[in-house]
Amino acid sequence: MRVIDAMKRDWDERARKNAFHYIASWRTDWDARAFFESGEEDYRRLVKPILTEMNFEPRDKCMVEIGCGAGRMTRVFAREFAHVDAIDISDEMQRRAKEYLQDFPNIRWILADGATLSGVTAESADFVFSYLVIQHLPSHAIANTLLREILRALKPGGVFLLQFNSARRPTMNWKGRTAWGMVNALWSAGLQRAARMAASALALDPEMVGKSWHGIAIESADIRRILESAGAKSLRLTGEATPMAWCSGVCGVRVDS
Ligand SMILES: C[S@@+](CC[C@H](N)C(=O)[O-])C[C@H]1O[C@@H](n2cnc3c(N)ncnc32)[C@H](O)[C@@H]1O
Repeated sequence: MRVIDAMKRDWDERARKNAFHYIASWRTDWDARAFFESGEEDYRRLVKPILTEMNFEPRDKCMVEIGCGAGRMTRVFAREFAHVDAIDISDEMQRRAKEYLQDFPNIRWILADGATLSGVTAESADFVFSYLVIQHLPSHAIANTLLREILRALKPGGVFLLQFNSARRPTMNWKGRTAWGMVNALWSAGLQRAARMAASALALDPEMVGKSWHGIAIESADIRRILESAGAKSLRLTGEATPMAWCSGVCGVRVDS
């Protein structure tokens, strides 16, 4: 199975099992109200200060949200911006988002192919945002393509804000890595049942065995190199070498390759 098909299958499965939890895994007892309020809180905490600093006024502007999930932050984006292109690889996630956000005619739902923003018109976005998505991508090649696509989608002068994992050291301790190493080895050997049983015995989530869940880390220097080579300017990087790294900047003169 192609890695992109596996990504889509896994996110669809997570949506069916417990969409709110797999999107925002810091809580298990989400109800819809708390879930969408957490999206508003994240907008106030993570997005608004950056936009204000960049003198960016969202009213009348178009934005793209990559990895919208069940619409946790899409709702507040649809209130703040004139138009939102809400993109996700999982139609199961998007189905839930559409149900919750059916009163927002200014959201266009786009099913992603996993690496490009092919449904988004070139130079159509004033703002591109992504949170808790790039950290799950299974390869640097896919991340590279997606990052370049962001610059394609942005108007010159448009702004982006992206979260990614730039932890140099694995976020799991040695015990976690050893346990997952054993479980993954059983899975790779074709022993699916044994792998799930071993995961349960080791207090790991058996549903996560063999999944595309553990994504890549990207060095901040690499993010900078990729984005700048695609035409990004005024890059600002925070949280370097941590799982919660951020990169913001502006789309400058386009460099077509
Ligand atoms: C952890 S959730 C975060 C959702 C949302 N950003 C939030 O903060 O509520 C990750 C979402 O990204 C989507 N996703 C994963 N890989 C993707 C890709 N390559 N392209 C588009 N969406 C992707 C998943 O389907 C899932 O809905």
